[in-house]
Formats: sequence, structure tokens, C-alpha cells
Amino acid sequence: MKSVLKPAHVFDREREWAGLVRFATSPSADVRLGIVSGRRRQGKTFLLDALVREVGGFFFTATDETEVEALARFGRALAAHTGGGRYAFADWHEALERLFIDVPDGLIVIDEFPYLIKASPSLPSLIQFALDPRGYARGKKSRLLLCGSALGVMGRLLAGNAPLRGRASLELVVRPLDYQAAARFWGITDPRLAVLVHSIVGGTPAYRREFVAGDAPESMDDFDDWVLRTVLNPQIPLFREARYLLAEEADIRDTAVYHAVLGAIASGNATRGGIANHIGRKSPDIGHPLAVLEDSQLITREADAFRKGQSVFRICEPLIVFYEAVMRREWTRLERGQPEAAWRNSRATFLSQVVGPHFEAVCREWALSAEADVFGELPGTVAAGTVADPHNRTQIQVDVAVLAQEEHGERRRVLSLGEVKWDKVMTGKHVERLRRVRDLLSVKGYDTSETVLACYSGAGFQAELPGDVRLVGVEELYAPVTS
Ligand SMILES: Nc1ncnc2c1ncn2[C@@H]1O[C@H](COP(=O)(O)OP(=O)(O)O)[C@@H](O)[C@H]1O
Ligand SMILES: [Mg+2]
Repeated sequence: MKSVLKPAHVFDREREWAGLVRFATSPSADVRLGIVSGRRRQGKTFLLDALVREVGGFFFTATDETEVEALARFGRALAAHTGGGRYAFADWHEALERLFIDVPDGLIVIDEFPYLIKASPSLPSLIQFALDPRGYARGKKSRLLLCGSALGVMGRLLAGNAPLRGRASLELVVRPLDYQAAARFWGITDPRLAVLVHSIVGGTPAYRREFVAGDAPESMDDFDDWVLRTVLNPQIPLFREARYLLAEEADIRDTAVYHAVLGAIASGNATRGGIANHIGRKSPDIGHPLAVLEDSQLITREADAFRKGQSVFRICEPLIVFYEAVMRREWTRLERGQPEAAWRNSRATFLSQVVGPHFEAVCREWALSAEADVFGELPGTVAAGTVADPHNRTQIQVDVAVLAQEEHGERRRVLSLGEVKWDKVMTGKHVERLRRVRDLLSVKGYDTSETVLACYSGAGFQAELPGDVRLVGVEELYAPVTS
């Protein structure tokens, strides 16, 4: 297999690149199909464009157009690729047949594939037919990559009894950069600043480039000004992005109810009942919006670490949390270009509803990727959890619960219990609380004999915390970045 170096302008994405190169240069003698999906602006087109530049191939980008228009454009593009003139295809049968004749052993990329399906719903079946052992791609060595952002559509391509199910030899999902890679991408070395920036723009590469034209905060002192001149500035594309993210989802029509659901989650009402209650609807009525948001990977469901069957919804895209918690209620002021007052009004909300929960999520991500020596062994699951305290008739929230892999017939082992504070110096009180949780869990039948108590803080720790407590500061969360 050829090794094809990743071009320098492509940041990170080593694994994605390796998978794509393997697919494109595979020595297999048969035609092969690959699917590339992922939310918008994560860099799918960027990667595929780089791939085609390196290994060559035919690249076609669909747009929102009728079947006749798409076929005409496809005909011109294919002809141009093979040397000129034009093809006038009557239907996709003809077009595909020609495609495999003209590109018999190279890479074929069809980007924005969901647009083509929208205009020609039978296209997946036609492709299946072409790839069939008796189809017209027989004997060819073409590598066909279908790419798209409409996650509902792309997911359905390979699901259940869909025609292309079982045909793809590559299924690549391009995700946002993780929080450490995002800091490197933004060129931020101060870990506290990195957390703040990530709590707004997350790991979407485009938000650093096209959406703010490369403007990154220079230091902690520049942060507020950066917020004012980018995400809260109506002249900058990032300003409207959270709204577009929702509006662009094909399955979303009545955006008001979706914003209400997201707003409820962002304000901390994140159980199904809590969301319904918050927006004044009955629980069954929000089933559909929740399903659509989950399908589009704008929200996910996270199971409670300790309560079976309980889960909370989380918003996957930080920018949406920021929009719902900060921008939506200040929208008029912001649109009129008065961000200073809006930002001043929102500081407390920003800390409590955006940064606080976001920092907890970052700590969970860190815990999940911790090496075996951190908690005694590799984590099985990491989640937030709720433990009832019957004595005080309260519920105690655990921000970072690390459990060992479940083993049949054994008590579930709790590897670590952790408390997270972004802007508070952590004290013995926090440790006391964790001890209380450990005792309660032990009574409930969990194995807590090896449980590591952990404090995660963005503001440091009091000197006299007991030595057996694991202290994790922001530097450690970013260790590979800052070291
Ligand atoms: N790996 C990367 N390295 C550098 N910039 C990237 C990377 N991935 C994405 N980008 C930036 O993000 C932008 C949007 O990516 P794009 O490929 O259009 O996203 P998608 O096709 O997933 O919607 C690119 O134009 C580029 O500026
Ligand atoms: Mg794209």
C-alpha cells in the first residue's frame, strides 16, 4: 500500500487521513464504496479535497437542484475530467455507467450526496445495482466515496434494509477536534483561556478560520474583548451560526420548539421530564424534537452513572449552549450592536450555565482518556451521577464518576468519584462530600474499596487537602498541550 503524506495545511486528523488513504489506495481488485459523514464545518470537504489533490480522482459536489440540473452538471464535470466535451445523460443509470467506465480504477468523491438523494430518491438503489456483482461496476477498481452532512440522511444510507447497507468498506465520521487539539488549533497555550474559548466555539475547525477570520484571543486579558468583537458581533459570521445550525437541519421546520428544548437543556433542565416541564409541554410532545436533535447529533443522551434508566440530555455543540444561555435573551440588544451591555448582563449566566457545565464535561473527557495508572485501571464508563442521601433527604450530584468495566456477577467497582469547580478554590468540604457519596454507594452495594477521590479545579486547591485525594488542575487537563 502506498503511503501518502498528509499535507501540512491539514491540521490533526491523522487517523481520518490514514483511513482515507487506505481506502483510496487499497490494492483490492474490486470496486469499493466508502461513506464519510459528520456535522457541518468539521472539515469533511477539506479532507476529501486534500485527498483528491494527493492521490488524484474525480470530485463532484452536489447542490440543492433538480435531477435534470444535477445530471447536466454531473455530465459536464465528468466530461471535463476525462478530457472535454459534455455528456447529456438521460438518467442516473446512464450517468453511473459512464462514471465507472471513465474512472475505472481511481477515486470518485461525491460530496453533499444528500442533495442528490433529495432530487433522485432512487439513487442509492441505482448505486447498489451498479456495485452488484452483475452490475456495470463489475471488474472495475473504482473507489467511490459518498460524503454528506445531513446526518439523518447519511445514517439512513447504511441502516436497516437500506440498499447500500453492508456495501461500504469505509464508514468515516469526521467529529469536532477534541478539547486539547482545539487548543493547539487555536494556538492557545494558557489552559484557562483554552477552556473559556472551547466553552464557546468547541472543536469545530471552521470557527477558527472562515467564521472569525483567524481572530484568536491573545491572552486572558483579551478574552472579553474577543467575545465582543467575534461571537457577539453581528458583522461576524459566527454571530448567526448557532441559528443556522438548527435552520440547516433538513428535518427541522418549527424552530421555535427546538430552541425551547435546547434552551431548557442549556439552563440545566436536562431530563426529559425537566425539559417538558420547563417549556410547558407534556413529556410525549417533546419526543419528536428530541429524536430529531439526537439524530442530527446536536444533542446526546448520557446515562446517569448510578441510577438505572435515568439519563440527561446534553448539547453537543458548545456554540448552541452559548447561544441559548447568553445570546438568545439579549438578541435585540446584540443585533442593534450593543454587545457591551449584553455581555455585562450575561457574565454570571456565562459562568454558571456555559463554563461551569462545560468544564465538567472537559474533566469527564480527560478522565475517560486517563491512562491506567491514574485510577488504577482503564475506565469503563465515565459519567455524571446522582446519589440519594436518605439521611438528609437530598440528592448528591457527582460530576465525574469513573466506573470499571461491568463484570457479570461482581459488584460494580467505582474507580473514582470527582467534584469539579471552575472558579472556586477547592477545600476539605468538597472532599467530605465525596467521602459521603462513597459511603452511600458502598451501602448500595458498589465496591468502593479502591475508589480514588478526585478534585478538579480551574482555580486551585487549599493547601491542607488530604494527600490521598487526586488533585487535577487545568494544567494537567492540557498536559500534552502545554508540556
Ligand atoms: N483539519 C483541518 N485543518 C485546518 N483547517 C481545517 C481542518 N478541517 C477543517 N478546517 C477548516 O474548516 C473549514 C470548513 O471545513 P469543511 O471541509 O467545509 O467542512 P464540512 O465539509 O465538514 O462541512 C475549512 O474550510 C477549513 O478552513
Ligand atoms: Mg462540506
